[in-house]
Amino acid sequence: MAVWNGQGFDPVRVAVVGLGYWGPNLVRNLNELPDAHLVSVCDVRAEALERVTRRYPTVEATTSFSDLLADDRIEALAIATPVSTHHPLVTAGLAAGKHVFVEKPLAASVAEATDLVALAERQRLVLMPGHTFLYSPPVNTIKALIDAGELGDIYFISTSRVNLGLHQPDVSVAWDLAPHDFSILRYWLEQVPTHVSALSRCCVLPDIPDVAFINLEFAVGAIAHVELSWLAPSKLRRTTIVGSQKMVVYDDVSNEPVRVFDSGVMPRDPETFGEYRLSYRTGDIVSKQVDVVEPLLLEMSDFCMAIRTGVEPRSSHDIGLDVVRMVEAVDASLATDGTRVEIAEQPAI
Ligand SMILES: NC(=O)c1ccc[n+]([C@@H]2O[C@H](COP(=O)([O-])OP(=O)(O)OC[C@H]3O[C@@H](n4cnc5c(N)ncnc54)[C@H](O)[C@@H]3O)[C@@H](O)[C@H]2O)c1
Repeated sequence: MAVWNGQGFDPVRVAVVGLGYWGPNLVRNLNELPDAHLVSVCDVRAEALERVTRRYPTVEATTSFSDLLADDRIEALAIATPVSTHHPLVTAGLAAGKHVFVEKPLAASVAEATDLVALAERQRLVLMPGHTFLYSPPVNTIKALIDAGELGDIYFISTSRVNLGLHQPDVSVAWDLAPHDFSILRYWLEQVPTHVSALSRCCVLPDIPDVAFINLEFAVGAIAHVELSWLAPSKLRRTTIVGSQKMVVYDDVSNEPVRVFDSGVMPRDPETFGEYRLSYRTGDIVSKQVDVVEPLLLEMSDFCMAIRTGVEPRSSHDIGLDVVRMVEAVDASLATDGTRVEIAEQPAI
């Protein structure tokens, strides 16, 4: 995917809400993008506004979200506030006729996410969750390999997303980090798992789970294991995909992020009844060439394109809702001592 550049349309007039850890990245990318015109920024904390306006002096600033809603110049909001605020802020934005991009996860429950999707559809406005990894070049290189059948049937996928920090005060490690891996799995396999089971522990703070081990089962037969933690000696962003033809190691912190292994195991015809012999194949290892472009720039470009052309963004509200369904199923499993929980069909909206 390349950055879309307007093709004769006016740049989308946008405001960014929430300038904590992540919001300034939205500001920087929207400011660089020819398809967008950053009109205003908003945060309830004046010092957060000051930090951004010192860098972007022509951008207007307000501590009042209602100011943005009443401003007819603003067509779209990009929201990076804590998860508990997503439902009220997105609802108000859509009700005021603004297109909304909201950081992952779309909302704090399936009920809230369903409500937002229904409102966006009624208002005929773009509602886009911020699943940044769907725009990551390595993730898309692997998507192309899977779609081309190069890996064969996907047997299993195993991921580790662990680091020392950042402990979040209001959400568990699953609500914070699982949306990344869940959105990637949903994108690669084009389906939601049928069953989820999970194990978690509050190691540092009471009532805030900071480590989670999650198992997922997909109808295509693939299984996945997702390991998440804010408590680890070193940063790992590593995914292994094992297919019937080839295997892939995706390491997001390596300068060779996608390595394809022409390796596998095949049962050979038994020579006598009941005797199984295996043939192991270890062939070439290829490091795939991957584009160097910031995923967030492509994501913001896709948001603008969706607004101007009506084409659904890659990070669609359906994916956003599915990811929330998966995380809520993790909570249901944790609440019942790690039992295997079925994920029901997506509710009709
Ligand atoms: N896509 C990614 O890779 C990525 C990475 C980090 C965080 N995030 C997401 O970004 C969002 C924000 O996370 P963060 O770590 O930046 O949080 P944060 O707490 O650092 O920042 C949130 C900011 O929102 C402001 N805020 C809260 N309520 C507000 C309101 N009603 N109006 C205006 N401002 C308000 C706060 O003052 C704060 O400055 C979360 O949804 C998180 O999951 C996404």
